[in-house]
Amino acid sequence: MEKIDVLISEEKLQERIKELALEIKDDFKNEEVTFVSVLKGAVFFTVDLMKKYDSDCTLDVVRVSSYVGENSTGKIDLKIPLKEENIKDKNIIIVEDIVDTGRTFNFLVDYIKKMNPKTVKTCVMLDKPSRRVVPFKADYVGFTIDDLFVIGYGLDYDERYRNLPYIGYIKNN
Ligand code: IMP
Ligand code: MG
Repeated sequence: MEKIDVLISEEKLQERIKELALEIKDDFKNEEVTFVSVLKGAVFFTVDLMKKYDSDCTLDVVRVSSYVGENSTGKIDLKIPLKEENIKDKNIIIVEDIVDTGRTFNFLVDYIKKMNPKTVKTCVMLDKPSRRVVPFKADYVGFTIDDLFVIGYGLDYDERYRNLPYIGYIKNN
């Protein structure tokens, strides 16, 4: 295993998630919300956010993958779609691990809006604004970070390290 440095500790993550849960609850008062977790990365964050969310809510999932290959413009592939009946007239909160280029969120917001939800909000654990290719600003942001490749708490490097309870980065040397 490579040497990993901690960027955001488990304690800091959990404290901030509690604040986000309260913020969302305050915005929606007594209205039910549907958290749409973007697989796989957002699983850990979604679970903790929902456990701290002390009001009516439901869970749904969507799976996308983005790839930036040669000559590719960062196409988004929909691997597990949503059902319109679960989105229509609902207060949707899309939950993601990290926003980088902004492509995934731009795709998902458009995709979900076509299903006629009552409202759509976006919630992200980490934001790397310096990497944006398409404009995007999330409604709820856990932490804003520098341009650094991070792992843990759902985020992977070649499918590994998702299980770390903190956000870290691989130390060179
Ligand atoms: P976007 O469409 O470029 O905003 O990409 C978001 C996706 O890229 C995230 O859901 C992650 O899967 C992946 N990603 C972006 N930055 C990182 C990182 O620092 N570590 C791990 N995955 C990342
Ligand atoms: Mg992801």
